[in-house]
Amino acid sequence: MGTSSDHKYAEAKEVLSEYGIELERLSIDRVEIQADDPEIIAEYSLKALDVDMPLLIEDAGLYIDKYYGFPGPYSSYALRTIDNPGILKLMDGEENRGARYLSAVAFRDGKNSVTFRGEVKGFITHEMRGTGGFGYDPIFAPEESDGRTFGEMSAVEKAKISHRARAFRKLGEWLQSQD
Ligand code: IMP
Repeated sequence: MGTSSDHKYAEAKEVLSEYGIELERLSIDRVEIQADDPEIIAEYSLKALDVDMPLLIEDAGLYIDKYYGFPGPYSSYALRTIDNPGILKLMDGEENRGARYLSAVAFRDGKNSVTFRGEVKGFITHEMRGTGGFGYDPIFAPEESDGRTFGEMSAVEKAKISHRARAFRKLGEWLQSQD
């Protein structure tokens, strides 16, 4: 299975490889501030890192309409505590099941600092489905699919529409345009 960051890294690496860009992971701690928007969190974490090489930080979360965006910036905390069964319980009997994943990638290379966002809209399912992906993937079904959750999709299918793939594709395109 691996950790959530193993999955995030694999997904990001795959997308950037489409642009001929190689991604390597650094095992360093990052400062993570509390803010509603993943863009602000990623940018702050990046600024706080004193590393002299092209560098990026991604921050992501699941935003549920009914709960004004919760868990949002608390997404990893909510997974560690109430987990997917707890989210399903919060949604019990609820008709408004809309949700979105947001991803923000902050990048700098000594010359430029840029941030790109990616979003995918969908809904929270009534039960957990699928063993693919990670985190909230078994309870999140994107609008742009046939009702399957990200957990029921292959990595390739998820990468076509995921928040992370969208943010990293924008970064890939921007990097290519800089050449
Ligand atoms: P992070 O702060 O960017 O590491 O992400 C916050 C939490 O959201 C993590 O615990 C992830 O498990 C969850 N999350 C972020 N992206 C995804 C995704 O693509 N699928 C499922 N869960 C995700």
